[in-house]
Amino acid sequence: MAGKNPNAPTEETVLAVKHYTDKTFSFSLTRPASFRFRSGEFIMLGLMGEKKPILRAYSIASPSWDEKLDFYSIKVQDGPLTSKLQKIKIGDKVLLGKKPVGTLVLDALLPGKRLFMFSTGTGIAPFASLIKDPDVYENFDEVILTNTCREAGELAYGKELVDSVRNDPLVGEMVGDKLKFITSTTRDDYPVKGRITTLIETGELFDLIEGEPLNPETDRVMICGSMDMTLDTKALMEKAGLQEGSNSNPADFVIEKAFVG
Ligand code: A2P
Repeated sequence: MAGKNPNAPTEETVLAVKHYTDKTFSFSLTRPASFRFRSGEFIMLGLMGEKKPILRAYSIASPSWDEKLDFYSIKVQDGPLTSKLQKIKIGDKVLLGKKPVGTLVLDALLPGKRLFMFSTGTGIAPFASLIKDPDVYENFDEVILTNTCREAGELAYGKELVDSVRNDPLVGEMVGDKLKFITSTTRDDYPVKGRITTLIETGELFDLIEGEPLNPETDRVMICGSMDMTLDTKALMEKAGLQEGSNSNPADFVIEKAFVG
């Protein structure tokens, strides 16, 4: 008889589902007692397919002290996983991997004063975990989270998230006025319009936060979005003199592609 694979995903129960737009939804799963992760990491997650599991990388969107695990997902109508995953209901089972990994972690950055978190769309998910982590506020004087979406309705998740962090009994007091949240859209009427790359290049971002332009001496950056967004934002970081870091070689900025499909 074949032995049980110790790395096989576990079956977790859906505790909550919330649909934000026709393109995005969030859900919560039970957390195995042995499941440990660092804020900002991702995990393989999915559903059983006809023959084998369909698993994709998902950033964990809840803090490491939470009893449950939160996720924020795109819905792709013909996506192999999300076409099905978007239909989950409370009580359903979802497969959860055992090995959280990733580079959007404090360990991959050198000490600094300002921490920027640039996200587009569901790329905000890893930052949902990080902005609830007390270490972030212990290590940095200022935390600037940005989320840019095509349409204004897609910004609702981030707005709820930031409100909940500010009112959180555990971290709310530490957050104080250290956390700034900048939102913009690219295809809808909205007070701030433009891609994050444009807001950085024109300096509008720094006007909005009433701060100085990027400075490698003081600034650390985490980036999460589409392939194009991460590459274009990375180029701007390098232009500003920041160097890319990793778990084994911490530096000034780190990047991760948000999962699509
Ligand atoms: P835009 O509407 O101008 O393409 P997507 O859903 O395609 O991932 O886009 C999410 C957000 O990311 C949109 O606001 C989109 O702007 C923006 N975006 C797309 N490509 C880039 C890029 N190369 N650099 C910065 N932002 C981008």
